[in-house]
Amino acid sequence: MKKIFATGGAGFIGSAFVRLVLAEQPDVKIINYDALTYAGNLENLTGIDTARHTFIKGDICDRKAVLEAMPDSCDAVFNFAAESHVDRSIQSADEFLRTNIIGTQVLLDAARERTVRRFVQISTDEVMGSLPDESGEYFTEDSLLQPNSPYAASKAAAEFVVRAARETHGVDTVITRCGNNYGPRQFPEKLIPLMISNAMNDEPLPVYGDGRNVRDWIYVDDHCRAIWLAYEKGRAGEVYNVGARNERQNVDVVQSILDVLGKPHSLIGYVTDRLGHDRRYAIDPTKAETELGWKPQTTWDEGLDKTINWYRENQNWVDHIRNGEYREYYRSMYGEPLGA
Ligand SMILES: NC(=O)c1ccc[n+]([C@@H]2O[C@H](COP(=O)([O-])OP(=O)(O)OC[C@H]3O[C@@H](n4cnc5c(N)ncnc54)[C@H](O)[C@@H]3O)[C@@H](O)[C@H]2O)c1
Repeated sequence: MKKIFATGGAGFIGSAFVRLVLAEQPDVKIINYDALTYAGNLENLTGIDTARHTFIKGDICDRKAVLEAMPDSCDAVFNFAAESHVDRSIQSADEFLRTNIIGTQVLLDAARERTVRRFVQISTDEVMGSLPDESGEYFTEDSLLQPNSPYAASKAAAEFVVRAARETHGVDTVITRCGNNYGPRQFPEKLIPLMISNAMNDEPLPVYGDGRNVRDWIYVDDHCRAIWLAYEKGRAGEVYNVGARNERQNVDVVQSILDVLGKPHSLIGYVTDRLGHDRRYAIDPTKAETELGWKPQTTWDEGLDKTINWYRENQNWVDHIRNGEYREYYRSMYGEPLGA
C-alpha cells in the first residue's frame, strides 16, 4: 500500500481529491490532516472508505502536531490546506500569511525529516496576476508571478518557499497552478455556489462591478486528476498549469445558473466591485496535456448540471453553513443579512 499525507482534505478540493483517489487508486491509503476552519467540514467526507482513510484534526503551522501525524517515508504530501477566499484576504490578510506561507514551510521541513518521496503544492493561477481583456494572452508556466490580492500574494510566497526547499535541500517538489474550480461541496462564499444557493432561496445574486471579469472554469474532479498525474508523472522541480480552456464572463456564468434553475435574470443585482479585482484569468495547459497526458473529462454544461443537482439534493449541507458563521461574513460583505 502507498501512504499519502493530504492536508486540507475536509475542504472543497481536498475532499474531492480524497474521494477520487480512494475510488481510482486501490493501493493507496490517505492520512487527511485538516484544522477544520470555517471552510473545513467533516460532512464533506461522509460515505468514504474509512479502511483506507484516517482523519487527523490539526493545524499545518503546528510543527509538533504535523511531525506526529506525518508517517515516515510516506509516498507523498499533497498540500491543499489554505485560506482560500480572496474577499476574506482583503478584509484581513494575517491568517493567509500564517497558513499559506508558514504552514507550507512547516510541511516542507516535516517532509524532509520524514523522508517523504514527493511534495505536491496545490497553487493557483492567481499568482500570475491579471490578463487584459481579449488580449489573446494566456498564463504559461513562464509567466511572471505578479499577485494582486493578499490571497494571491500568500500563494505566490508559498510557491517560493517550495522552490527554495527544492533548490536548497533537494526536496522533490511539484507545483500545480489551476484556475477556478467548481463542483459539489464548495463553500457558498465562492461565486458559483453563492449564486446557486441564493437563487435556490430566491435571494438577490450579488455580481461585482460590470460582471465582465473572466475566469477559466474547471470541474473539480478534472483538477484532482491533474494533481494525481503531476504526482505520478511530473518532473521534479516543475510547475504545471491546469485549465480546461473554458473562459467565461462572471455574468454569463450567473445567467447560466439562473437558466438551469428556471429563475429570472432579474435576481441579478450589481454591487460595488471587489478592490483590485483581477480582470481576466486564462490558462494555457499545453505542458500538463503533453507531459502528464492530462485532459479534462467534464464539459462545462455537464459539470454545471452536476454541481447544481448536488446543491439541490443537499439543501441540508447548505443550510448548516448558512445558519453558522457565514451569516456574519455575508452581512459584512454585502451589507444585507442572508434571507433578507
Ligand atoms: N477553489 C479554487 O478554485 C482553487 C483554484 C486553484 C487552487 N486552489 C487551491 O486549492 C487548495 C484548496 O482550495 P479549496 O477551494 O478546497 O479551499 P477550501 O477553503 O474549501 O478548503 C481549505 C481547507 O484547508 C483547511 N485549512 C485551512 N487552514 C488550515 C491550517 N492552518 N491547517 C490545516 N488545515 C487548514 C480548511 O479547514 C479547509 O478544509 C488551496 O490551496 C487553494 O489555494 C483553489
